[in-house]
Amino acid sequence: MSATPSCRICGGSLREFFDFGRQPVADAFVAPKDLSNEFFYRLAVAVCTACTMAQLVEGIPRERMFHVDYPYVASGSADMRRHFRNVAQSFLDNELKEPGSFIVEFGSNDGIMLETVAAAGVRHLGVEPSKRVAEAAAAKGIRVRNAFFEESTAKEVFAAEGPAKVVYAANTFSHVDYVDSIFRGVDVLLAPDGIFVFEDPYLADIVERTSFDQIYDEHYYFFTVRSVQAMAAQYGFELVDVEHLPVHGGEIRYTVARPGARTPSPAVARYLDREKILGIAEQRTLDRFAANVQQLRESLRDVLVRCREQGRTVAGYGATAKSATLTNFCGIGPDLVSYICDNTPAKQGLLSPGSHIPVRSPEEFAASYPDYALLFAWNHAAEIMRKESGFQDRGGQWILYVPEVHLV
Ligand code: SAH
Ligand code: TMP
Ligand code: ZN
Repeated sequence: MSATPSCRICGGSLREFFDFGRQPVADAFVAPKDLSNEFFYRLAVAVCTACTMAQLVEGIPRERMFHVDYPYVASGSADMRRHFRNVAQSFLDNELKEPGSFIVEFGSNDGIMLETVAAAGVRHLGVEPSKRVAEAAAAKGIRVRNAFFEESTAKEVFAAEGPAKVVYAANTFSHVDYVDSIFRGVDVLLAPDGIFVFEDPYLADIVERTSFDQIYDEHYYFFTVRSVQAMAAQYGFELVDVEHLPVHGGEIRYTVARPGARTPSPAVARYLDREKILGIAEQRTLDRFAANVQQLRESLRDVLVRCREQGRTVAGYGATAKSATLTNFCGIGPDLVSYICDNTPAKQGLLSPGSHIPVRSPEEFAASYPDYALLFAWNHAAEIMRKESGFQDRGGQWILYVPEVHLV
């Protein structure tokens, strides 16, 4: 696709603040025989000088990212299963008490959130385009429609099921560039007093922690309270609540309603003030971020090159989508990280996109520990370090790079 010179949401002008260069599709793990077919695009990120929304300069067609072979399964993390159980329980306790209440989740993946709703016998529908994970959810007894959520899907769901009290999306709304169609769909589907709730990585946390690996094809927008408030207003909705979450390195859960339907929480104004003080979308802040990214790249390369020179072995842990940006931008290939271990069967036996590091099972990691393990899944550090305590017991050290390069 060609570059977008103006804001995808308000049409304002974009100011680019980082260019990662040529990058592959982050979840496109590749078989050795298919290496000649890899797709690359220019990964660059910009901020809108009018509405302040941070966004990719170039998007790639959605079918290249989300399809039958989309490998990410949300339920691979016990900590995330607990997180989504709590999300579901809170909807059940506060929003879905009336008999017949209906909740729609888009990006429901393998049903990590909806399984709790289904178990409570509450009416629900997942909308999920990636067929394999949609089928995994259906196998758990969850009602799923294998489709992209957008205006036309929402109309069909409304015609068949009536209004929804809650429309929910985790780590999905910021993945789609066509927010106009999503908002029109929510408008069709949402009950007059219903809420649209979404949780996504927070730009302020990315900037503060230099977690630049959050920037890849699937993450089209990088929300802030200010930019989401402006976006909601533009599509006829009101931002009524925000909650800062510790998951995935820092996210915000936004609650949006029809204007006047809900009393706004004081948290909204508090976060707007905080973002103003941080100068979150200002040029000086984003220039500093860009300098920190370059510096992090050098520090990480230094550590890995030193390991290689000293004959130490390094494996990666967690073949995350994030690691595509990290490895390709930092020039980390199998010469520096010999393999990546990951518990996702659909990734094992393949090579990481662009950087071509083999993906193996955690059993192979435990069978012969390396000297160092570079924790690509740093957002799951507590869970993984707990699970792999044998690695440190045998003298292994974790290499972490968020918020800076350090050994544990
Ligand atoms: N909600 C889960 C999964 C996030 S991964 C979690 O937070 O862990 C993002 C998911 O959104 C993928 O399963 C992808 O197939 C799906 N997706 C992408 N675009 C979508 C769209 N327009 N409508 C519904 N789902 C979408
Ligand atoms: P995520 O950061 O996008 O959630 O991806 C995490 C990746 O790490 C995913 O491919 C699964 C993998 N993983 C493990 O291999 N072991 C684990 O214990 C956890 C939590 C994740
Ligand atoms: Zn804008």
